[in-house]
Amino acid sequence: MLEHLNQLESTGLAELQSVSDADALEQWRIAYLGTKGKLKAAMPMMKDVSKEDKPAVGKRLNEVKNALESTFKDKKASLEAAAVEGPAIDVTEPGLDCGGGRRHVISRTIDEIIEVFARMGFTVAYGPEVEDEWHNFNALNIPEDHPAREPIDNFYMEQRHLMLRSQTSTVQIRTMEKTKPPLKIIAIGRVYRPDTHDATHYSMFHQVEGLYVDHDVTMVDLKTSLFQFAQAYFGPGAEVRIRPSFFPFTEPSAEVDMKMKVKGQWQWIELGGCGMVDPNVFEAVGYDPEEWTGFAFGLGIERIAMRKYGISDIRWLFENDARFLRQF
Ligand code: DAH
Repeated sequence: MLEHLNQLESTGLAELQSVSDADALEQWRIAYLGTKGKLKAAMPMMKDVSKEDKPAVGKRLNEVKNALESTFKDKKASLEAAAVEGPAIDVTEPGLDCGGGRRHVISRTIDEIIEVFARMGFTVAYGPEVEDEWHNFNALNIPEDHPAREPIDNFYMEQRHLMLRSQTSTVQIRTMEKTKPPLKIIAIGRVYRPDTHDATHYSMFHQVEGLYVDHDVTMVDLKTSLFQFAQAYFGPGAEVRIRPSFFPFTEPSAEVDMKMKVKGQWQWIELGGCGMVDPNVFEAVGYDPEEWTGFAFGLGIERIAMRKYGISDIRWLFENDARFLRQF
């Protein structure tokens, strides 16, 4: 019996040693430790062992059982660990920063601005970046000889009368041409001017244009809308100031300043222009200027974002240096 147990132990352990996958391990378990396995089969042999040998043989039986069972457990654990692909990984190690993407600070600013104006009932309108002179100038009451049309201030295409739009006011015209009043829209997008690049100038930037046309619209509606935007966007301390100015497409016209927090201090910042839609503009799009009134405004997005986030050079916004962009 002892002989048999020794044999069982040594062949069992040897066979277990050569097991290399989960299936073979399970075969081995059934063969040795299963209910019809070799270990179970050895149990009844005890009754043939003489009384005085019983304690020693019983002890040996237990030893063999323990040896097979514990070696089986170790083997199982090591096969399971090896089943995990690749080298062992310490999951508690801090990971490598692979620089997850994020939206550009200008795109995020645009989304936030749309969100605020949407709450005031403005819908978003779009227009092309390649424009004709009718939408960029004529319909906006900018006469043929106006200095704003100078080639040195505009990107004209080789095809006559086409250009990269210099202002989003073009979208006022495009929207009114295809929509009957009343309407309440903002238009956000890129505009182009051949400025020399420096900390505050770039040949492409973004504007948000607003247009509200209805019966009896007044300057009060204009200033209230701008004020509500300022409060929602810059916080409860924000204010709006308008100063008399001139734009061909509005009468009267004004510059828009907003009081916003710049590096912890409230400051007046000039953001763009505004005014009451000029009757000539209404006529150009076929609206009756006797019946309809409206206000319009145009603000620079970069100015808003740069002040809000304390960015002192506009060029950084478009150089696509991830170290800069990652901060926002
Ligand atoms: N288009 C003007 C610009 O680019 C800004 C502007 C001024 C837009 C007055 C308006 C407005 O809608 O009413 O400088």
